[in-house]
Amino acid sequence: MDAEGTQTGSQGTVRPGAGGTDPPVHMTPEEFRLQGRAVVDWVADYFERVAAYPALSRAAPGEIRAGLPAAPPEHGEAFANILADVETKILPGITHWQSPSFFAFFPANVSGPAILGELLASGLGVQGMLWATSPACTELETHVLDWVVDMLGLPPRFKSSGSGGGVIQDTASSATLCALLAARERATGGESNRRGCDGRLVAYASTQAHSSVEKAARIAGLGSEKLRLVEVDERFALRPEALERRVAADRALGLVPFFVCATVGTTSSNAIDPVQAIGRLCAREGLWLHVDAAMSGTAALCPEFRGIHAGLEHADSYCFNPHKWMLTNFDCDCFYVADRASLIGALGILPEYLRNQATASGQVIDYRDWHVPLGRRFRALKLWFVIRWYGVEGLRRHVRHTVHLAQEFARWVAADPRFECVVPPPLNLVCFRLRSSDAVNQDLLERLNRSGELYLTHTRLDDRTVLRFCVGQPQTEERHVREAWQRIQEEAALVQPSC
Ligand SMILES: Cc1ncc(COP(=O)(O)O)c(C=O)c1O
Repeated sequence: MDAEGTQTGSQGTVRPGAGGTDPPVHMTPEEFRLQGRAVVDWVADYFERVAAYPALSRAAPGEIRAGLPAAPPEHGEAFANILADVETKILPGITHWQSPSFFAFFPANVSGPAILGELLASGLGVQGMLWATSPACTELETHVLDWVVDMLGLPPRFKSSGSGGGVIQDTASSATLCALLAARERATGGESNRRGCDGRLVAYASTQAHSSVEKAARIAGLGSEKLRLVEVDERFALRPEALERRVAADRALGLVPFFVCATVGTTSSNAIDPVQAIGRLCAREGLWLHVDAAMSGTAALCPEFRGIHAGLEHADSYCFNPHKWMLTNFDCDCFYVADRASLIGALGILPEYLRNQATASGQVIDYRDWHVPLGRRFRALKLWFVIRWYGVEGLRRHVRHTVHLAQEFARWVAADPRFECVVPPPLNLVCFRLRSSDAVNQDLLERLNRSGELYLTHTRLDDRTVLRFCVGQPQTEERHVREAWQRIQEEAALVQPSC
């Protein structure tokens, strides 16, 4: 910066001094081109070196913030300096979800085509709340979501050509909330929207359902207590006969059962609820059935895994997350309804400032009526890029490869008498434990994660601490799984030397 307060950007851009009515200075297309290349190079380099970082960040609470200046810069800084700070100030606080040794939670896939699709969407900067605010944003989304119905072998009634349709939500949590709201309005003929939630409404999910179902029940005004958590069987899948008993008991109390959330691939153990039996019960009882397949739905790309969706033709709504296992950057959840009128009936609202000819014509979809926020990003672009770049067969290979690696891991665990697999792994998640106390298993987990060489998480099943090993990252190869198993065995010998 010189004495007059003018500042020279990294591209020689002259920035005016403070005050006055000078126009703002933006990054020129030329500088954007240059810095954009630097960022793409940075990301490509990151992918090449990500395996070298500790999978779980070692930052202590507050450490990253302490390295940042207390006040924002008054004058703009050179882009190269900002990027350099990513390396020194941000990376130490990153848990490397893209590490090939990341086996925690469920995966959060990224891929080259998804990142580039996302970049393009940022560049276009469209806000697709209405068809009219960018027709391509809406029509590509409708089209790609119809493709996905065919790709996963989903029931045709989820397609836009009939009475149903799909929409991209940010997350499965939002999809479940929207399903619950649509079900609530269907059950009360729109009264809950007009007057507030009917206190007699009751919803059901298994004890293993994701916490987002309870959160949705709270937000929708039911309250946690009006979500009944139904008993599960020895594989942690919902027991339909227990559901039936609960529904009958609630009816006997004068309550109004209206909604069931079945899970295809529970978070703790990947249990697959029996959608067929649950669906028949819902049809008999007039209950809305939502199926949450957040992680495992992607497996249905492969015909040999489509059994997980048996009975889905009974579902009123369904969701899965390409941002977990289908190589599409967060955020991207595909949410389908069999009857779009009930969703739009629950969420549609039309203030004067959004009225336009296309909406009035009734010939277009306005996705703002299909989710909670008004505004929406052009997420379909990255999904379209992913599907086109990999092709359906390429995506199937990713699923088969990661399922194969997880099954290999499960075989190694089963062959070591010190360990047990807690349930047979249906897909890519292995739940296992040392045949020892919870404290020893917890100790094992902490030592492994401290090592930085891999990252696992835990859960509780049958009131015991269980370690979860989920394979899903694009960079994970057999050697990474083998190395992880070796580390687990070594640490096991240390935490429980007697075995
Ligand atoms: C079965 C299931 N449902 C819902 C969710 C929530 O996903 P999201 O972060 O997309 O809301 C998860 C997250 O792991 C999950 O496993």
